[in-house]
Amino acid sequence: MVGRLEDKIAVVTGAGRGIGREIALLMAAEGAKVVVNDLGGAADGTGAGNIAEEVCAEIRAQGGEAVPNTESVAEVAGGESLLNTALDAFGGMDILINNAGILRDRSIFNMSEADWDAVIAVHLKGHYCCSRPFARYIREHNRTGCRIVNFSSVSGLFGNFGQSNYGAAKAGIAGFSRVLAFELAKYGCTVNTISPGALTRMTIPLRENRGETVDQSELDQGGPQHVAPIVVWLCGEEGAGITSEIFHTASGGVGIMQQPAVIKRFHKSEGVWGLDELDAVVPQLVDARKANVAAAEVATVGGDN
Ligand SMILES: NC(=O)c1ccc[n+]([C@@H]2O[C@H](COP(=O)([O-])OP(=O)(O)OC[C@H]3O[C@@H](n4cnc5c(N)ncnc54)[C@H](O)[C@@H]3O)[C@@H](O)[C@H]2O)c1
Repeated sequence: MVGRLEDKIAVVTGAGRGIGREIALLMAAEGAKVVVNDLGGAADGTGAGNIAEEVCAEIRAQGGEAVPNTESVAEVAGGESLLNTALDAFGGMDILINNAGILRDRSIFNMSEADWDAVIAVHLKGHYCCSRPFARYIREHNRTGCRIVNFSSVSGLFGNFGQSNYGAAKAGIAGFSRVLAFELAKYGCTVNTISPGALTRMTIPLRENRGETVDQSELDQGGPQHVAPIVVWLCGEEGAGITSEIFHTASGGVGIMQQPAVIKRFHKSEGVWGLDELDAVVPQLVDARKANVAAAEVATVGGDN
């Protein structure tokens, strides 16, 4: 059977474990040649190790093709090395999955400059470091049908206590994706964003800190394997033309998110708004947004989990 990604060359960052590993395995099973990138460090981004090669060995054992790359996505040179690894090993590049990530949760009261910088560097700058060489390659070679899938989070899209660094990076990634979707549309390259939920090294400790244990049945229901299918689907032929969207996926659910939009607007034709006039207008704007959210929630009943 011909796979959906036959002859495609994919780079998956942070693919040594968790969600990235599942994406790399599924892509290889669908016929893609995969560059498995992972720095192999701890969850807070310190240290390094060669877990990328372990995933490559798994892929090869299943009859697929994969090569490791252990550079950091947070460095411009690391991002460039991804393209070079793909070119050297497979002679091209069609797909970039910007998945690598770390966490350094602190409330703003205790957020050190180092914790802020490290998270912004891996997530937000990492997306830039890996995407720019690929975008230039697409333009220089007029390579058509390429795909970029970026990783955001409800932390950035909805907000989450104790994650101002991570949330800022993840909201920035959603904005970055919308801009890239415009800039690469001419080349037929789609750029979409995933908001995932999965039990991984990143999230299991949060449960454990609350004194909860995670058993195998929960891993079966909520593991990272549930995130990979929509990512791989977007990278196939069927995903052509679907761009600048945000998909939320977790535990068997797959959904689409609203994008920022003006829901209701009052216009003052003469002069500037008086503060007393805004006393009446602002609550109506807030009510309009709440009604919009409520309507969207009603629409998803039965289809969301
Ligand atoms: N798990 C969730 O519920 C969840 C929720 C929202 C968003 N996300 C996002 O999904 C992505 C994958 O997360 P995960 O849960 O699989 O986490 P994970 O920790 O299991 O995997 C992330 C991988 O990225 C690698 N990595 C970290 N820094 C790197 C760097 N500088 N260069 C290269 N590789 C690096 C790590 O070594 C690790 O193997 C992340 O971007 C994360 O922010 C996850």
